[in-house]
Formats: sequence, C-alpha cells, structure tokens
Amino acid sequence: MTDTVLRLDAVNSFYGPVQVHFDLSLEVGRGEIVCLLGGNASGKSTTMKVILGLLAPRSGRVLLDGQPLTGLDTPQIVRRGVGSVPESRRLFATMTVRENVLMGAYTRKDRKAVAEDFERVLDQFPKLRERHAQQAGTLSGGEQQMVAMARALMGRPRLICLDEPTMGLSPLHVDRVLEMIQAINRLGVSVFMVEQNASLALQIAHRGYVLQTGRIVLSGDAADLARDPHIRDAYLGGAQAA
Ligand SMILES: Nc1ncnc2c1ncn2[C@@H]1O[C@H](COP(=O)(O)OP(=O)(O)O)[C@@H](O)[C@H]1O
Ligand SMILES: [Mg+2]
Repeated sequence: MTDTVLRLDAVNSFYGPVQVHFDLSLEVGRGEIVCLLGGNASGKSTTMKVILGLLAPRSGRVLLDGQPLTGLDTPQIVRRGVGSVPESRRLFATMTVRENVLMGAYTRKDRKAVAEDFERVLDQFPKLRERHAQQAGTLSGGEQQMVAMARALMGRPRLICLDEPTMGLSPLHVDRVLEMIQAINRLGVSVFMVEQNASLALQIAHRGYVLQTGRIVLSGDAADLARDPHIRDAYLGGAQAA
C-alpha cells in the first residue's frame, strides 16, 4: 500500500496509570475500508479517541496523509478531513434531523457551501430529506445511524471513522448501514470502522486488524481474516459464522 491516509505508529496510550494501547500500529490506505476488530474493553473506542485528538498518546504518532496530528484539537482534526460517527451515535434527541446534520458543519463559516453540502448529503440519504423536520430521538436506530453518518459527511471528510456502527440495530438496519458505509466509500472516502461484530465488519472491509487488550494480534485481508480459525473461534461464534 503506497498511499496511506491514516497511520498510527507505535501508539502507547494510558488512562492515568492504566495502559490501554501497547505499540499500536495500523494503516488505512486511500479508498480502503479497514476494520478494527476486538472484544469488549480491548481498546477500540480509545483508538478512535486517539485519532480524533480526544486522548493524547503518551508515545507514538498519528499521521493523516503523512502529517502528524500531534497537538491538534478535535475541531482542527475534523477540518483536516476526519469525520467521525461515535459509539451510540450521540445525536441531540430533541433537535431535528436537519439541526443534527448541520452540527457537522458547526465550525464552518462558509454558509453557502454548507447549504450545498447539506443538499448533497440529503441526496445521499433520501430518507433523511423526508424526515428533516422530525426530532432525531423519534427515529429508528438505523435512521439515527444515517443522521450520524450524514453529520460526519458535512465536514467533507477524506476519512470517516465509525465506532460500532451496527451496534443495537435490527438485522434489516444492519444491512442498510453496511450498504451506506460502502456507498460512502465508493464516493472516495476512506473508512476506518471499529466493530465487535467481526462477521459483519468483514463482509464489507478490505482489510482488518484484531485488537486484544491493546495489542494487534492479527491483521490481513478481510477474506483471509474471515477464514482464520482464531477469528472464527474468538469473534464469529457458532451461529454468526454459519
Ligand atoms: N475514560 C476512561 N477512563 C479510564 N479508563 C477507561 C476510560 N475509557 C475506557 N477505559 C478503559 O480502557 C479500556 C479500553 O476501553 P475501550 O477503548 O472503550 O474498549 P472497547 O471500545 O474495545 O470496548 C477498558 O479497560 C476501559 O475500561
Ligand atoms: Mg467501544
């Protein structure tokens, strides 16, 4: 892979005295969908925090297009082209769909371009156009996930980071969300997604990494990981692997 959008290089991160990442290194190439798999408390969400500048690693670096993000705060990182869809989506339940989506452009001053981007994003999510005046908290889980993705796209990201995008969704909505992630990727946005559900993530990812208590223990092409006996035992489970 020659063209790397995101690179984590030997990252060690801590909460106080507790170390969460141990020399964590990974890459997302331009145009790729890369998933970070791992069980509960393995350090997946913390990886997102490190990428978004919410937690500074004690050592190691995060690079976007080869440029270190060290010392930048979250709005600056967003402006550099990183969109994020956090765990459990974090919408403002009593605000409308429109207001929530526009939150993704809150740091921008270029009102005309923001309005254009809003139209472009709604073209991608026709369902949200129908529901634009509805309170976000009244939408289904899958629709809320759409709002969170639309909000992330308002920043015109080159990389979008999603934390467990399928969590808590019904099977139908899971399929829709996976299709949306692929559609976003086809528009040229690189994707980094964190998932506990390996079988779902590996359906759409090009490559994956497996995190275990803060260490990458396995990585490779998604098809190879899906066939890997360790992954099947540890993360796919009986029913889901079938
Ligand atoms: N704000 C925090 N303060 C202290 N410890 C935390 C904090 N957030 C997460 N942790 C701990 O860090 C470890 C990794 O958490 P997390 O990255 O959320 O894992 P995952 O997303 O893989 O479930 C866990 O042991 C968790 O309890
Ligand atoms: Mg998590």
